[in-house]
Amino acid sequence: NLGRVGDRLDLPVYAVGGFVRDLLLGQRNSDVDVTVDGDGILFAEAFAAEYGCRVKSHEKFGTAVIVFSDGFKIDVASTRLEYYVSPGALPTVERSSLKMDLYRRDFTVNTLAIALNSQSFGKLIDYFGAYRDLQAKVIRVLHNLSFVEDPTRVFRAIRFEQRLNFKIAKHTEDLIKNAVKMDFLVKLGGRRLLSELVQILREKEPLQGISRMATLGLLRFIHPSIELTLELQAALEEVRYVVSWFDLLYLERPYERWAVYFLALCELLSPEQFWATCTRLAVSENQREHLAEMRRQGEELVGAMERKLARQERLENSEIYFTLRGLPVEILLYHMAKSGNPETKRCISLYFTKLHGMQPLIGGEDLKQLGIKPGPIYRELLDAVLSARMNGKVSSKDDEIRLVR
Ligand code: CTP
Repeated sequence: NLGRVGDRLDLPVYAVGGFVRDLLLGQRNSDVDVTVDGDGILFAEAFAAEYGCRVKSHEKFGTAVIVFSDGFKIDVASTRLEYYVSPGALPTVERSSLKMDLYRRDFTVNTLAIALNSQSFGKLIDYFGAYRDLQAKVIRVLHNLSFVEDPTRVFRAIRFEQRLNFKIAKHTEDLIKNAVKMDFLVKLGGRRLLSELVQILREKEPLQGISRMATLGLLRFIHPSIELTLELQAALEEVRYVVSWFDLLYLERPYERWAVYFLALCELLSPEQFWATCTRLAVSENQREHLAEMRRQGEELVGAMERKLARQERLENSEIYFTLRGLPVEILLYHMAKSGNPETKRCISLYFTKLHGMQPLIGGEDLKQLGIKPGPIYRELLDAVLSARMNGKVSSKDDEIRLVR
C-alpha cells in the first residue's frame, strides 16, 4: 500500500535500514523505516489520509511518523530536504539521492533498500556491498570518518555485533580503537552515552557486549575505575543467572533489566564515584538521588538481614518481607546476584515467589465491624495479621479476626 500511494504521487518509495537487514536475516523487526525520493511529509500525509492514520511530522528534517490506530508506526524520511533558513525566506532545498542518503548511515548492513512502488516492487538495492557483508556476518563502516562524525556508532557496532552474532571488520575495529585513543568519545554527551549503554545492557546477552566494551577500552568512559576483572565477570554472570530466573517466574512485575547489570558494573564504586558516574551519564538529579538512596538502602537492609542470618540461621517470613518490601526489584535482584550467602538468596527468592503478593484475608471493613475506630492503628493491625499469616500462625479469616480481638 505504501508503494501504491507512492505510485499515485509519482514518488519512489523504499523500505530501508534495519527493517531490510532483519528481513533478510529472518529476524523480527517491527520498526519500519521508509525513505521517499522526494517529499516524505507529503507522502506520509497522503498515505495517512487514505488509510485513516495520524501523522507527526518534523518539517525541519523532512521526516514524519505515520501512526496507525493500533499504535503501529512507520517512520518516513525524505531524500530531499526543504528547509527555511529564516522565517519568510525561500526554502533551501537540499537535493539528495537514495544513494547519498544510504551513504550517510553507520554500517553497510544498514544500507539496504527495497523498492516498494508497483513497477519495481521487491527489488533489492545494494550500493555498498551490504548483502555480501550480511552473508559474511560482518559489521563494517562505509568510510573512515564514521566514528568521528558520530561516536555513538562505536556502541552501535558492539550492539549489532553481539545481537546479530556478527563480527566487527578488522579495519572498522581499528577505526574504533583509533577513536578511543584520540578521545573522540569524550565529546559524547552523557545522555547519548547512557542511551547507548542502556541499549547494550537491554540486549538478550549483555555480557558479550560488556566484554567487547572492555576489550575496546570503553568501560572507562562510564567511570575510569571500572575494569572487567575476573570478579566483575563472575558478578555479571551471576546477574545473568538471577535475571533469567526472575524472567522465568513470569511475575509480570515490570523492572529494568539493564539497571541490574548497571548496578553490578558499578559495584566497586564508592558512593561518591557512583554519584559522579550518574552525573557523567546525565541521569537527572531526582533519579540520581533515587538511585544512590536505593543503592545505600539496599546495602543497609540486605546487610542487616545477613547479620541476622549469621546469628540465627533462619529468619521468619515476616522479617524477610518487612525488610525487603521497600526495595525496588532491580536492587533486590542485584543483591540476590551479589550475595555469596545461599540463605540470603533463598530469602530474596522467597520474597519474590511467595511473600510479595500476600495480603491479609481481612480488611478495613472487618476492622470497622469489630468496632475499631479508623486510624493509623489499622495499618499496624493489618501488618500484624499479615505477619502471622506469613509465618503460618493463621490460615483462615476467622483466625485473623480472633487474632485482632
Ligand atoms: N543510524 C546511523 N547512525 C546512528 C544512528 C542510526 O547511521 N548513530 C542509521 C542506521 O543506519 C539505522 C538507521 O539510522 O539503520 C535507523 O536507526 P535505528 O532505528 O537506531 O537503527 P536500527 O538499525 O533500526 O536498529 P534497531 O534494530 O536497534 O532499532
